[in-house]
Amino acid sequence: MDMEIKRVGIIGAGQMGSGIAQVCAAAGLDVLLNDRDPNRLETGLSSIDAGLSRLVSKGTIEEIESREIRSRIKPAHGFADLGPADLVIEAATENEATKREIFSTLCASLRPDAIVATNTSSISITRLAAATDRPERFIGIHFMNPVPVMQLVELIRGIATEDSTYESAKAFIAKLGKISTMSEDFPAFIVNRILLPMINEAIYTLYEGVGSVESIDTAMKLGANHPMGPLQLADFIGLDTCLSVMQVLYEGLADSKYRPCPLLVKYVEAGWLGRKAKRGFYDYRGPTPIPTR
Ligand SMILES: NC(=O)c1ccc[n+]([C@@H]2O[C@H](COP(=O)([O-])OP(=O)(O)OC[C@H]3O[C@@H](n4cnc5c(N)ncnc54)[C@H](O)[C@@H]3O)[C@@H](O)[C@H]2O)c1
Repeated sequence: MDMEIKRVGIIGAGQMGSGIAQVCAAAGLDVLLNDRDPNRLETGLSSIDAGLSRLVSKGTIEEIESREIRSRIKPAHGFADLGPADLVIEAATENEATKREIFSTLCASLRPDAIVATNTSSISITRLAAATDRPERFIGIHFMNPVPVMQLVELIRGIATEDSTYESAKAFIAKLGKISTMSEDFPAFIVNRILLPMINEAIYTLYEGVGSVESIDTAMKLGANHPMGPLQLADFIGLDTCLSVMQVLYEGLADSKYRPCPLLVKYVEAGWLGRKAKRGFYDYRGPTPIPTR
């Protein structure tokens, strides 16, 4: 039976988890937001406050509406606090071991009929489902960044995902006012299968000295009409996430055309993860971003 989602648990209060929390609360749903790191949970809640304030100052929502939205989001300090959720969306770091560990401990705290979803950018839904006690109630719900702005959500069924789980997830996305598309469970699904090799190629272009950060981004903005240059976009996504998606494509499709650029690996090893670390292909520590190469 399809289930109407009223209460959503979210694991990971990073850029995606906090964005998902905001749009769920804005759609009138109750939200329980969890992160293993209490500081990240605080930062996530503050970024929601900042996002809502921006909407108030732009006149998109009223102050009172913003307070109502915010009051629907409650911190969850452990998985036990996620017990009342109809749907739990995992939006933790893009690492398979981390996600498997979450699913293997999470399920014991949930109702048997609760749906469990992952926001993974690339990892096999079928494989992650196998780490839960409910592969038939498990699905990929892949939001785009920044969640409050982007219209699309990819839905990905694992081999065991039941129709009722898919229909409930589809209705949930419609309730958020977003558009869903269906993708088969192949590495990186549709959007990232196409987008990340383009970003990786832009990094190769930089690595081989074909152009500077500035010329590559300007070329793609003005020459291909992209709203953001590929290196700017890589920083925005997070270079650790970009590397992880390329590794999943490389290993999952066993094709050398997906090999991650060594320069991307180097930036991640340096901890220059993009905007969230204040440094990536640009340095964000000053008033305007400055290219790092
Ligand atoms: N960044 C993007 O553009 C983007 C877009 C779509 C999907 N995603 C996916 O969303 C997920 C999160 O990405 P992000 O960009 O928000 O990353 P992020 O680094 O901003 O946030 C990840 C959060 O997960 C938390 N976390 C890690 N392990 C945890 C655990 N065991 N329990 C609870 N919390 C834990 C971390 O403390 C951190 O706050 C990833 O799977 C990523 O692939 C990212």
